[in-house]
Amino acid sequence: MDNLDSLVAGATADFAAAADPASLEDAKARYLGKSGRITELMKSLAALPPEQKREAGAKINAAKQGIEAALNARRQALADAQLAARLASEAIDVTLPGRARGAGVIHPVMRSWMRIEEIFASIGFDVGDGPEIETDWYNFSALNNPENHPARSMQDTFYVDMKDADGRLLCLRTHTSPMQVRYARAHVAKHAAQVASGDMPEIRVIVPGRTYRVDSDATHSPMFHQFEGLWIGRDVSFADLKSVYTAFLHAFFERDDIVVRFRPSYFPFTEPSAEVDMMFEDGPLKGRWLEIAGSGQVHPTVVRNYGLDPEQYVGFAFGSGLERLTMLRYGVEDLRLFFEGDLRFLEQFR
Ligand code: DAH
Repeated sequence: MDNLDSLVAGATADFAAAADPASLEDAKARYLGKSGRITELMKSLAALPPEQKREAGAKINAAKQGIEAALNARRQALADAQLAARLASEAIDVTLPGRARGAGVIHPVMRSWMRIEEIFASIGFDVGDGPEIETDWYNFSALNNPENHPARSMQDTFYVDMKDADGRLLCLRTHTSPMQVRYARAHVAKHAAQVASGDMPEIRVIVPGRTYRVDSDATHSPMFHQFEGLWIGRDVSFADLKSVYTAFLHAFFERDDIVVRFRPSYFPFTEPSAEVDMMFEDGPLKGRWLEIAGSGQVHPTVVRNYGLDPEQYVGFAFGSGLERLTMLRYGVEDLRLFFEGDLRFLEQFR
């Protein structure tokens, strides 16, 4: 029984050497298990004479308690270590910036699109929409731009390998102007009775949309955006065109120091036609005339293609590039930036 102290010391050392709960339980079995050292000692008590049993039993019990205490201490230590390791591995550094999902921003060109719709809605214009794959008739002929007319060469066109009912190739619309004709014809059909009696409600519409031309450099992209404006009534004049477009520019740029001029030009679908130029009286572009729109009084042939009598109905149309307006508003110098998808550029419009 003298070796009981070293038995406890040996068990304590074995427990300390167990690096994980499973090996600790193995070590425990060697002392406290069915055939463990303590259990064997207990069994050997039976062979002792009664007067020695008591004393020996008490000593073995004390040793057993010592071993159990060492076991529990080691169990706790292992559990603590395990928890500490887990906490360390799952640690969250709350001071790190979060991996937030960035909120998107509205593309600058779309932003102009929306602003333009709002500005024109505030003066009673509807917003039209139409196909980007257009027929030859709507894109050219209806706009007084017949086949073989030299004006067609003004635009290099993407054709689609598919023919319309007239046997002509479809094309990607080269401008939003075909929507003048589509919208006007739908309007005329809707108000047929009033058209006949000469009191058709006025046509007032803008049509923003994607347009396509074979063109690509710092100021041209094969896909770009325009918006078309059309106002047709009994006595809509060129003066109305000037006031509407000028008012639009002031609203769009949110500044008053803008000078506008209408420079005689040519478009097959208007007569007279004018290029609209504007100039800022201040800022980096001060004093430079900037071409901003094509416009004019709608040509009688086009009015006829709306389904209206040009002797009764007159009005004006205009078309502007959305990219161009957006570049001027935000001081963007290369149009390609709009289509490269570079977040460093786009996020500046947040
Ligand atoms: N469609 C012309 C273009 O893309 C722009 C234009 C000019 C539209 C005069 C019009 C207009 O409505 O009257 O170059």
